Amino acid sequence: MCGIVGYIGEQDAYPILIKGLHRLEYRGYDSAGIAVANSGDELKIYKAKGRVDDLEEFCRSKDISGNIGIAHTRWATHGEPSNANAHPHYSESENLALIHNGIIENYAVLKQQLINKGFHFRSNTDTEVLVQLIEYIKDLNKVDLCTAIQLALSEIVGAYAIAVLEKGVTDRIIVARKSSPLVLGIGDNEYFIASDASPIVEYTNKVIYLEDEEIAIVSRNEPPRILTIKNVEKSHEIIELEMNISQLEKGGYPHFMLKEIFEQPQTLRDCMRGRIDISCQHVVLSGIIDHKERFLDARRIIILACGTSWHAGLVGKYLFESFCRIPVEVEYSSEFRYRNPVIYPDDIIIAISQSGETADTLAAVELARKSGAFVYGICNVVGSSIARNTDSGSYTHVGPEIGVASTKAFTAQLVVLSMMALCIAREKKTIPDERIKALLKELNRIPDKIEKILQSNELISDLSKIFTYAHNFIYLGRGFNYPIALEGALKLKEISYIHAEGYPAAEMKHGPIALIDTEMPVVAIATDNGMYEKVISNIQEIKARNGRVIAVVSENDTVVKSIADYVIEIPATEDCFDPLLTTIPLQLLSYHIAVNKRRDVDMPRNLAKSVTVE
Ligand code: F6R
Repeated sequence: MCGIVGYIGEQDAYPILIKGLHRLEYRGYDSAGIAVANSGDELKIYKAKGRVDDLEEFCRSKDISGNIGIAHTRWATHGEPSNANAHPHYSESENLALIHNGIIENYAVLKQQLINKGFHFRSNTDTEVLVQLIEYIKDLNKVDLCTAIQLALSEIVGAYAIAVLEKGVTDRIIVARKSSPLVLGIGDNEYFIASDASPIVEYTNKVIYLEDEEIAIVSRNEPPRILTIKNVEKSHEIIELEMNISQLEKGGYPHFMLKEIFEQPQTLRDCMRGRIDISCQHVVLSGIIDHKERFLDARRIIILACGTSWHAGLVGKYLFESFCRIPVEVEYSSEFRYRNPVIYPDDIIIAISQSGETADTLAAVELARKSGAFVYGICNVVGSSIARNTDSGSYTHVGPEIGVASTKAFTAQLVVLSMMALCIAREKKTIPDERIKALLKELNRIPDKIEKILQSNELISDLSKIFTYAHNFIYLGRGFNYPIALEGALKLKEISYIHAEGYPAAEMKHGPIALIDTEMPVVAIATDNGMYEKVISNIQEIKARNGRVIAVVSENDTVVKSIADYVIEIPATEDCFDPLLTTIPLQLLSYHIAVNKRRDVDMPRNLAKSVTVE
């Protein structure tokens, strides 16, 4: 949901800012802009509708020199994607330029007040209201920029990560955040500002994560000074990043999504490393062991998440209920936070979020913590807001996920949930140690089995050509594979823009079966596990109505092969780990269909990777 980047130092700011915008483009890509202040007492803004490439094209013939600047890539909230609505925004006098990630909820009232005082607006954004308000307060109270920002932010309801430049001031950028992420990079005589560490990592591995309602004065040649909005001085630990630059490149793949699909054997090994012992006797998650009593006494688990992470949560429900015998509810964070939910102090809340910044999940976590429940986070981005706002947790450790459609983060969420369920089951003694050992051994084999499935890439690519022009798809699964049917459908719709629905296979006959005809491809997950016979009956029902069935089956299957139109074979595994395998061919199928349709796979329309607005 918008990426912001800033630089102050001795180098030319423009190339650093543009490269940073490219790294953050996954957060939004409908328009982009840049402001550079130079010693000639100028504060110039350049903006363009479209991608960062369009901004670069626009800037090609311009003089954008200067070694201090801010830049923004936008995901529209208030106001359509256009040059006028792109950031940075000037204040009335054009003395200030501001970029913003987040939403100003009370912008309409403030805007009207400013209009009544004679301010003019050039855009339809909420952001422009903030920069105008800062200037109004600064001039009215005759205060410095930092104080004006503090006062203005005290009047704001909503979420923000902002960076502000002032005309004629070439030695300072002022930034602030609340509910939207902001990282400061500390280099040698240079400082970086960004929504996440990806634009910073090639210059320095030393960062500071700003906390909510903090403001930082980032000055040339001196360490950032951090204050709260209420003007209390803060000190911050400098954190060393573990990210490396190759994780941010495509590495020879045509798209990040394909690279991330193929990385999964390795990312899952990384996710398990140091957590499952060599002999597969134990799984050690310190986040659970350190709070063992909370888990042993848990009355209930509530899983909170959105989108793909919510699908992982559904698999988690099956895992925790069957292994730990703890009742589980899986909630959309966006519904939970506004529902006045019943939360008991002995509930365990598990928040799942790849980015760790999803606004609804963060708000749901805050609500749960206020009710006294113990909150466990499963996040990928280290140091993210959800990771920092939970009582305990486990990182998925898959490295940066850049493709907007989540793939490797999803499978790692499933692995973390599996390890959690087995760790709790061992402590609760709800399943025998021998069975836990067998399951851990099988979990360890999953990366090799995924490697085998990835060898079917060509076959799945060929299959995708048959279905590229279908208008609708149905995905069916049962038991552990029901959430994978939902996830398969979501992957297809978000990157190919084909309408798709996922269903528990047996629900078909309660309505959706009316949709089946020769034009309707049905993807059925029919592996030889718990519900095999039942799913076969469901496939028969589809075939009896002339539906076209693509089935994901276990190796050496003969029955489904004889009924389905097309099959994709995968290795056998335990019922509970099936989702880790069945999801892989569905990721590849969506990917190839989207490529055939010439969709922008890594940056599908209307989406953004990190949904920091509600
Ligand atoms: C789909 C996708 C989204 C995210 C959702 C939650 O491929 O990526 O549905 O899963 O926006 O994001 P996180 O996990 O960052 O909270």
